Amino acid sequence: MGRDERDALKIGVIGCGNISTTYLRNAGLFAGVAMVACADLMPEMAKLRADEFGLRAVGIDALLADPEIDLVLNLTIPAAHHAVSLSALSAGKHVFTEKPLATSHAEGRHLVEEAGRRGLLIGSAPDTFLGAAGRRARRLVDEGAIGKPVAGTAFMMGRGMEHWHPNPQFYYQPGGGPVLDMGPYYLTMLVNLLGPVASVSALSARGQDERLITAEGPFQNTRFTVGTPTTLLSLLRFRSGAVVTFGASWDVFRHSNMPIELHGTEGSLRLPDPDTFGGVVGLSHRGADWADHDTQGDLYGARNWPYAAPDRANYRMIGVADLARALRDGSRPRASGALALHVLEIMEAILASGEAGATIGLAGEIERPEALGDGDAAALLADRA
Ligand SMILES: NC(=O)c1ccc[n+]([C@@H]2O[C@H](COP(=O)([O-])OP(=O)(O)OC[C@H]3O[C@@H](n4cnc5c(N)ncnc54)[C@H](O)[C@@H]3O)[C@@H](O)[C@H]2O)c1
Repeated sequence: MGRDERDALKIGVIGCGNISTTYLRNAGLFAGVAMVACADLMPEMAKLRADEFGLRAVGIDALLADPEIDLVLNLTIPAAHHAVSLSALSAGKHVFTEKPLATSHAEGRHLVEEAGRRGLLIGSAPDTFLGAAGRRARRLVDEGAIGKPVAGTAFMMGRGMEHWHPNPQFYYQPGGGPVLDMGPYYLTMLVNLLGPVASVSALSARGQDERLITAEGPFQNTRFTVGTPTTLLSLLRFRSGAVVTFGASWDVFRHSNMPIELHGTEGSLRLPDPDTFGGVVGLSHRGADWADHDTQGDLYGARNWPYAAPDRANYRMIGVADLARALRDGSRPRASGALALHVLEIMEAILASGEAGATIGLAGEIERPEALGDGDAAALLADRA
């Protein structure tokens, strides 16, 4: 074992489902992190991943008790995030969790407070805002390319899951819905660019009371009852004074809205899908034609992918590598629990406002994460010389 590997943050994965393959595959791209063991409620899933990626498959309790493991990467389902992260913190491990941080603001706050009390770090997905497109947008905003941000729009719209997902019912129950499922990508990007949100007002709708599963699988051609709003249109007032419309819907067959546009006193900025790490960032200075920059060729854009170029750049793990760096130099992780907690607070307020029709003020006072420069990003990569 070389010096770099000995010094690396040792990671144990809990939750060996779908997304775990992306994290396990990407870990080798980054410096200062080493995947060593994995566990799952279903031991055969842990065994499968362990064999695929050369790790130790262990029981959950054994992973938590293992003194070699510094950080637990929580890739379980959202309903289990709080319990699994809490047991990891209680075992003295740092945590990085998939989104959302927890399914309620109260549980999310509990985790952030518990980590603070124990002197441990907690980080959370999404880390897409640290990709090439998010970095470029942040630099442009910070340099004043659009002046003072005044207004914006963000839209996540689609027709839902039942035409491709064999088991989509859970997406349409309380704890699911388009805001909790996809909101973290849009809202984390917006908070990284504009700072914290001060108040939220929203309206909600439900296109269908029942949905028909057309995807192949055991439930094909069966119907299920929709238990949560499937369209939420919200107005976000940022503490900076900027106001942004955020729409999240699974009632839309086709649309022409950009994922995110921001308009300031000097110009406009448009961003690609914030669920990706690369894509085209466009800037218009005082009404000039869009100057588009394709970040796909930049560091962490799809074309730099060292294996096979995926159609959507996917560098999940950059947030974990940044947290490992924060532990080494005593600074704060960028994809932090505090940021994810504020995003959870916004999402909970959108849902509550959609129910009640009233404006909801938010208490969250967070600072934007420190900007990640291209050089900082390069320093997170493993030396593949
Ligand atoms: N699948 C994706 O494309 C994707 C993309 C981005 C984010 N995510 C997020 O990643 C997380 C996991 O999603 P997924 O698609 O991999 O789900 P999945 O259902 O495929 O895998 C989850 C795994 O966690 C295990 N698990 C559940 N509860 C557990 C517990 N209490 N202790 C130990 N193991 C437990 C399950 O047995 C399963 O193997 C979710 O939070 C999701 O929002 C998924």
